[in-house]
Amino acid sequence: MSFDLVLFGGTGDLAWRKLMPALFQAFRHGSLPEGGRIIGVGRDDLSGEQYRSLIQARFDKVDLAKRPSAEEFARFAALLDFVRMDLSKPEDYIHLANALQSRNADTVVMYLATAPSLFTTVCEQLAAAKLNTPHTRIVLEKPLGHDLASNRAINHTVRRFFDEKQVFRIDHYLGKPAVQNLFALRFGNALFEPLWRREHIANIQITISEDLGVEKRGAFYETTGALRDMVQNHALQLLCAIGMEPPINSHADAIRDEKLKVLRSLKPWTQESLTQDVVRGQYASGSIDGAKVPGYREELGVNPQSNTETFVALRTEIANWRWAGVPFYIRTGKRLTGRDAHIVVNFRPTPHAIFNSQIGVANRLVINLQPKDGLELHLLAQGQNNRQAKAGAAQALVPVQLDLDFDKRFGSERVGAYERLLLDVIDDRLNLFVRSDEQEEAWRWVEPIMNHWTNDAQGPRMYAAGSWGPSASSAMIARDGYCWSEES
Ligand code: BG6
Repeated sequence: MSFDLVLFGGTGDLAWRKLMPALFQAFRHGSLPEGGRIIGVGRDDLSGEQYRSLIQARFDKVDLAKRPSAEEFARFAALLDFVRMDLSKPEDYIHLANALQSRNADTVVMYLATAPSLFTTVCEQLAAAKLNTPHTRIVLEKPLGHDLASNRAINHTVRRFFDEKQVFRIDHYLGKPAVQNLFALRFGNALFEPLWRREHIANIQITISEDLGVEKRGAFYETTGALRDMVQNHALQLLCAIGMEPPINSHADAIRDEKLKVLRSLKPWTQESLTQDVVRGQYASGSIDGAKVPGYREELGVNPQSNTETFVALRTEIANWRWAGVPFYIRTGKRLTGRDAHIVVNFRPTPHAIFNSQIGVANRLVINLQPKDGLELHLLAQGQNNRQAKAGAAQALVPVQLDLDFDKRFGSERVGAYERLLLDVIDDRLNLFVRSDEQEEAWRWVEPIMNHWTNDAQGPRMYAAGSWGPSASSAMIARDGYCWSEES
């Protein structure tokens, strides 16, 4: 099957950092279908040759194991080309159409790795140049809008020219191997399903922490913040994967229908819960790995009085029969202690304690997304040694854990998130992409938080870079009698 992948934003940050390395990995693994072509689109006046050289130079910044040798790059480069375009000019789309017509590939993927403000124009112009054929797939990168209204406006335009089945909305967290393993754990095994409910689960915690700050994206982040950047999409998609009902089959719409139901069941916000169950934070200066780092307000492109949040912690519930009353906690932030994403499922303690050490200790399942990808099942075991037995110590249980390290089990050369998602677009698999109604529902749910913050004079709570965020985040969860996993 031949394909043309047109990368709008082909000289942008995402193309350099994520997409080209992912496409190269797919090429190296032999999973990119033969007969493909990757066409970078950008405003720069570059020849194909110059574009290939720029990409080769950027590969020097990629991890050694993922860097092509000169011979490998030469073979990969044979797929790459460049088309210069001003995205507002209709004649440039005609030029693109001519470049594509010369090959007439089976599939044409239009990947919009551009500012979302350009999505509408690009879709309109693609249609005007008759580039919205049934063979076309369109890939939209987040953020898809700034709020519910702008998200709807984008979706509305896209749907004027493309069928929903042609639209691939990326949330790269869904491409992470650990998230696919979460689906496998829940729906490929019978073991946990009977326990996966309010009767057995006390609370669920989703943490996505980063030690990096906003880097060079200060200006972008000023208008975005952690709620729009991480909660509306990545964190809520993880919550859906944990909370959804088993889909009737593995088709994209069956999965997306169930995720949508979770989003629709999220407890609506009230004035009280907006005040008590949401914590907005912003990093002050501090130290990461022993090195001093500036606060958010001192970052390039950031207003020195900025109230933009770099941290969010919140508590919610899924109001349905399976989950009623079980708190779901979400926490995400920049410049925290480390790069770490995990989900903790805390089970309820035994109903009656016969061992001393059992009091207050319960089972826990940890789904690690990064830096390592695996599962930990925390149990209690009899760990008494001979010396303790002689001394007649009371029988005490100790915490132990079963560890499944997916890298060790399956090898570390597994398919990365963007590689997986790009291959899925080319192969026309929508399972790991977000449907418009899911996205709109997620915006609808976060919007009261955004509005509340706009009118809240208090501003974000400061936290030192390198910490776990503002203490209000621990206080929020402590009100329910729980603590974040690293504090237990
Ligand atoms: C992106 C956000 O969607 O996800 C970034 O825009 C964030 O701000 C990134 O750093 C985190 O992704 P990952 O895969 O590194 O956890």
